[in-house]
Amino acid sequence: MMKILVTGGAGFIGSNFIQYALEAHSDYAIINFDKLTYAGNLENLKECESSERYSFIKGDIGDRKLLEGIEFDGIINFAAESHVDRSILDAQPFLETNIMGTYNLLEVARQRGCTFLHVSTDEVYGSTEKEPFSEDSPLMPNSPYAASKASSDMLVRSYMETHNLKAMITRCSNNYGPYQFPEKLIPLVVLNGLNDKPIPVYGDGMNVRDWIYVVDHCRAVDAVFQKGSVGEIYNIGSRNECPNIDIVTIILRKVADKRGLDEESLLKLITYVEDRKGHDRGYAIDPGKIEESLGWKPEMDFYQGIEKTIEWYIAHEEWWQRILTREYMRYYDVQYGERLKG
Ligand code: NAD
Ligand code: DAU
Repeated sequence: MMKILVTGGAGFIGSNFIQYALEAHSDYAIINFDKLTYAGNLENLKECESSERYSFIKGDIGDRKLLEGIEFDGIINFAAESHVDRSILDAQPFLETNIMGTYNLLEVARQRGCTFLHVSTDEVYGSTEKEPFSEDSPLMPNSPYAASKASSDMLVRSYMETHNLKAMITRCSNNYGPYQFPEKLIPLVVLNGLNDKPIPVYGDGMNVRDWIYVVDHCRAVDAVFQKGSVGEIYNIGSRNECPNIDIVTIILRKVADKRGLDEESLLKLITYVEDRKGHDRGYAIDPGKIEESLGWKPEMDFYQGIEKTIEWYIAHEEWWQRILTREYMRYYDVQYGERLKG
């Protein structure tokens, strides 16, 4: 049995990864190590709880003592503060978890001599309006979140060079799918469309993101963990670049259809608001390296993936109603209150 410490396993991508990996590999035992911040939710893993190959430990990746007491053969590090807008409001937790937390995990991996897969992001490359990012593109992070992830990537690199750590880095584009916290664009548009609330679109709505279905990302992380070469970086994406306003429109049309409403009644909710500070104009990933060297390919068609995602949110109202609590609404008010007043 391969014992894997999955950090941040109660978040959006981590919980999708655990569900996927337990099903795909009968020889994986997974320890989900998560601090349960506002973004961590054990409800995401209800179906895994009955598996003898799944266990959960509540903890902070900055807690060396706690980590040293756990037995495992490899680490996959999803744990992070992940939302760009929150990093603009307060960068401190981003530096603590994404930089110091990763440093702490690297030390533990070094002591053990175990494999370390660091889950990073295309945001470390900054913004592109032409060429897609390759693994050799320079790191030009523009938000405190992106800078904290780039810093952690640099630390991983230094441990590979200095301590011969068996590490790999993945850098993925924007994920969407079930269990995504409602602060992110796609679930925010779905939920506001279901609840007839204004849809805040930053700036002119022409910023481009490159969308990938979360399970395709999970399959890629798994392929790198199993077959990736130590010391390598792998970009992950599904060549699906789209301006924000087009995504918003596609989602609202589909939500209107599901609700039996005419499209216009939801499209009129679109509200252009003050832009995000330092807003990257475009992301685009070249996934050629992982496709050619590991034989991974994205499988989900974007329109089917969006349909599936909308249906998941419609079918899981209890899941998101519990999140739309006072704490989340306080954040929502800080983030959008003034913006939506115009
Ligand atoms: P998320 O915010 O949904 O989940 C993060 C999880 O990490 C939560 O369960 C949280 O409780 C946990 N966590 C936070 N701080 C912790 C700490 N100090 N110790 C232990 N656990 C802690 O994030 P996500 O969208 O699932 O992203 C997961 C990873 O993937 C992140 O590293 C992110 O940078 C990266 N990534 C995300 C995307 C995306 O589109 N969401 C794309 C590329 C890369
Ligand atoms: O590219 C990978 C990154 O994708 C990950 O590293 C991050 O963890 C993840 O949060 C995501 O970052 P983005 O900032 O691109 O995602 P977000 O969903 O916040 O925003 C997507 C786009 O939509 C972006 O151009 C900003 C815009 N937007 C977002 C929100 C929340 C709006 O126009 N209105 C909004 O209310």
